[in-house]
Formats: sequence, C-alpha cells, structure tokens
Amino acid sequence: MNRVHTWLIANWKMNGTRARVLAYAIEWDALLRATPGVQGVFCPPVLFAEPAYAALPADAALAMGAQTCHMLEKGAFTGEISAAMLADSGVGYVILGHSERRAMGETDAQVVAKAQAALAAGITPVVCVGESLAAYQEGGTRTALMAQLQPLQVLDTAAYLIAYEPIWAIGSGLTPTLDEIDAVHGWIKSVLGSAVPVLYGGSVNSANASAILALSEVSGALVGGASLEINSMAAILAAACERKGM
Ligand code: PGA
Repeated sequence: MNRVHTWLIANWKMNGTRARVLAYAIEWDALLRATPGVQGVFCPPVLFAEPAYAALPADAALAMGAQTCHMLEKGAFTGEISAAMLADSGVGYVILGHSERRAMGETDAQVVAKAQAALAAGITPVVCVGESLAAYQEGGTRTALMAQLQPLQVLDTAAYLIAYEPIWAIGSGLTPTLDEIDAVHGWIKSVLGSAVPVLYGGSVNSANASAILALSEVSGALVGGASLEINSMAAILAAACERKGM
C-alpha cells in the first residue's frame, strides 16, 4: 500500500441528489486510482453514502465519509445515526465538530465522545477546529483553538485527523495568509503531537489549492463549495499531486 501523504475531503453538506452523488463518486474514484498517496474521502448527505459505497468497485481508492455521528451506539435518539451504523454502511471517515454543527450546539465534550465512538467502530474521525473572525482579528486564534484542542488530548494521536477551518474562512472566499496557515498547523501539531495530520479547510478552491497544499505543515484539504463540481475537485487533486515528496 502506498503511504498516504495528502488527504482530500469533499464535504457536500446538505447538497446533491442521489444520482449526482453516485456519478461523482465513480468519477472521483477513477481519478484517485491514478494518484497514489492521495486519500480521497467523499462526505455526501449521509443517506447517499451507502449507495455510493455500493456503486464503487471493491478495490476503490475513494473512501466514503459522513458529516457527523451520534456518540452512543443505539437508543431512543430520533433522527440520529451511530458510528457503528455508518461503519456497517461502508463509511470509513466522519467529520466531527464542524463549525456549522458547533453553531447548532455541539460541544467540545460531545466532539470527543463522538470521536471515541467513531474509533470504537473503526471509523477515522476528522475533527474540525477553528476560530471566529473576532478572535482572529484580536490575535486570539491560538487561545480559541486551545479550548477545542485540549479535550482531544485523550485520543490516540495516530488515529484521527484535524481540519483547521477558520470559521470566517468557510464559504466566504477569504483565507488566512499562507504563513498564518503554516504557523497555525505547526502549532496545532505541537499541542496534539506531530503524528496528527492537520488538513486546512475554508474557501479552498482550484486557484489557491496549489499554494496551500505546498505548505510543509499542511497534510491536505477539507473542501466544501469547490468540491461540488468534479472539475474543480480534479484540479485540487492535481494540486495535491504536485506536492513535494510525491
Ligand atoms: P468551503 O467549506 O470550502 O465552502 O469554505 C469548507 C467546510 O465547511 O468544510
């Protein structure tokens, strides 16, 4: 097996149709087969993950992901899906603590409990952390991030991924400077351990992906809006392949 040096995660949020999800999964998988070392993870609306998984070849390069999970295995939690159910449906990764879910009330303690549930089910958590615009402007990025990182220190550093997603960069077309991204990623590793891959997310697109993915502390990208079209994801994948050391 080729060592993964870059993760590209497509977060479709609440977008797409079953037909579009299946077609995209098959097309992206074909592209990924030609790019060893890049692990693609597709997180469509969760009910389309299983049919997409079933439509992929048995030796698919693409992994399926979910956008959240519940922290308990089963029970009276209307509308929720457990990590074990995701695993049973072919899901290998789960995004946790996305700022859009934190805004709906997800707490740091819940993020850790969900990560532990995911790991117990054999699913790799992708834990999102990020600061608000106010924190960024006041120079409070590290303080804001520390509150989200500290609870994660109970997790095995080799078992999960971090996505650094400044809240103000998500869907806005704005990004921190390249130096800021690299510095924050390096600092996150100094807090959690250097074994944790740290991906960048927030307005990644086909124009800025090369520069962001070339940063030494960046291990990949979590892409929202620009992931919805296979052509822009193909361009971001090409940028991932340009990375030094490939
Ligand atoms: P964006 O979203 O790429 O549209 O900014 C990223 C995310 O929310 O994960």
